[in-house]
Amino acid sequence: MADKIKLFVNGVEVEVEAGKNLIDAIGAVGIEIPHFCYHPALGSDGNCRMCLVGIEDGRPPLVPACKTPAQAGMKVLLDAAHIKKIQHDVMELELINHPIDCPICDQAGECKLQDFYMSYDKQPSRMTVAQVKKGKKLDYGCGIVHDQERCVLCARCVRFCRQITKTGELGIVNRSDAAQVEFFPGRPINNRYAQNIVDLCPVGAMTSADFRFKQRVWFLKRAKGICHGCAKGCNITIEHNREKYQEDRIYRFLPRLNPQVNGYFICDKGRYSYHKENEGRLTVARQGSQVRNQADALAACNQEISRSPKIAMILSPNCSLEEMVAVKSLAEKLGATLSGFSDGYISAGDGDGYLIQDDKSANRAGLGILGINSNRAVFEKDLGEAQLLVNFNNDLTRSYTEPELRALLKDTKMILAASHDDGLAAMAAIAIPIAAASEYSGSLVNCDNILQSFTKAVSKNHDPVDIGTLAAQLGSPLQTRAEQFSELRKYLSVLKNFEADTLPAEGLKLTDNEATHVTA
Ligand code: SF4
Ligand code: SF4
Ligand code: FES
Repeated sequence: MADKIKLFVNGVEVEVEAGKNLIDAIGAVGIEIPHFCYHPALGSDGNCRMCLVGIEDGRPPLVPACKTPAQAGMKVLLDAAHIKKIQHDVMELELINHPIDCPICDQAGECKLQDFYMSYDKQPSRMTVAQVKKGKKLDYGCGIVHDQERCVLCARCVRFCRQITKTGELGIVNRSDAAQVEFFPGRPINNRYAQNIVDLCPVGAMTSADFRFKQRVWFLKRAKGICHGCAKGCNITIEHNREKYQEDRIYRFLPRLNPQVNGYFICDKGRYSYHKENEGRLTVARQGSQVRNQADALAACNQEISRSPKIAMILSPNCSLEEMVAVKSLAEKLGATLSGFSDGYISAGDGDGYLIQDDKSANRAGLGILGINSNRAVFEKDLGEAQLLVNFNNDLTRSYTEPELRALLKDTKMILAASHDDGLAAMAAIAIPIAAASEYSGSLVNCDNILQSFTKAVSKNHDPVDIGTLAAQLGSPLQTRAEQFSELRKYLSVLKNFEADTLPAEGLKLTDNEATHVTA
């Protein structure tokens, strides 16, 4: 627990966290100090002067809040006339050459220049000469579109490339009103986290080619999610919207702060993985080449299960803990073998020691915690002895070529529960659509043994079931998510004081015993 100190803001006493600068300390109790260049992940640069405040203790009349540590007893002035005047003047300087692009700017609705103009300025322009013109719609690499006219030269993008990715592609060249952000000739932005620059840019100078003009941000609904792109489990905000007569669609993933997991950022691959949530989905149940309604497909599955003396089951390492435990109970009830074999989800050498992991699955740790065997040879042996494989969304095409798969499934029928209609669905005797990660709730354990939960963000017109529900429909003794969660408590004593939807926002760090799969 961080130490608290008391100080005064406009004469009113507030209690804030010690050891922070004034922007963060006072911001945490809901008092805004306007700023452009400071960002907690990048530190203070002191270049925008938007954060100037007064301190009544004999210091100079104005100090930058981003560079001033909060101290006990400090008297901070935000509403004095000379502070208002400086906020005005800084806004005027920022806006002198800024184009009035707001109606066509992709940042409208989340632009700090717009927001601060409305809160601190609202003055008409006094410009009598032509505005400086600069480059617009410039390709800066990695899907970033730069508009030099809108830039307020806060240098966040420059600092991100130097401090976070250490790739240093950007710099500010020229002086005064000719100053602009540039990349070195012939070397545009080229790093795996580049799209964070778009989030960091406080105005519409850095925009995303992927997102531009697809939605106005005020139409988007926001939900908390966990990226399923790799074992890091970065925290994201899922932004989605349902246009009239259309399905609910995701328009972007944005990073969501979790100091324990991903800090302020996510990788671009994870960010773009929202496309997969929208596209290529298995939407109807099929038996062979025939379309079946869900109830008929389920009945056919139950029939296959009841007449198969030996059943092998496999699940995806992306399944939530609740789904895993439901499938495990089903397998135990039916006397089926259960595998979490998923070597194909590992992309050796791709991890970068920062966020991106070799393991492209979200819950491999969960397999270990629940004691689900993932060995390839064991899976192949079990499969060889079974008449039926029930596959819970394990994309075996990652681990085998098509001829290898056809050979493996030569004498074995496959029931496939799949979120996507890929090569595997065509090989299934029965294929049943299931929810993708944004369409249900559950919990996962990441590569650092942090248990995190995620909740349903997107509701389709015809909501597909999650694997936990499907397992229940196929006869799992764990019929509800609450029952699945209480079963999990047998494996994870850390859950004893929590319910399914009350896990702490930053996640729960598992004890060494739990992480090494010792059951409670
Ligand atoms: S492009 Fe955006 S982030 Fe970069 S300096 Fe300009 S305003 Fe700041
Ligand atoms: S590092 Fe992994 S979990 Fe994080 S955003 Fe990228 S793919 Fe997703
Ligand atoms: S935020 Fe303090 S000078 Fe820019």
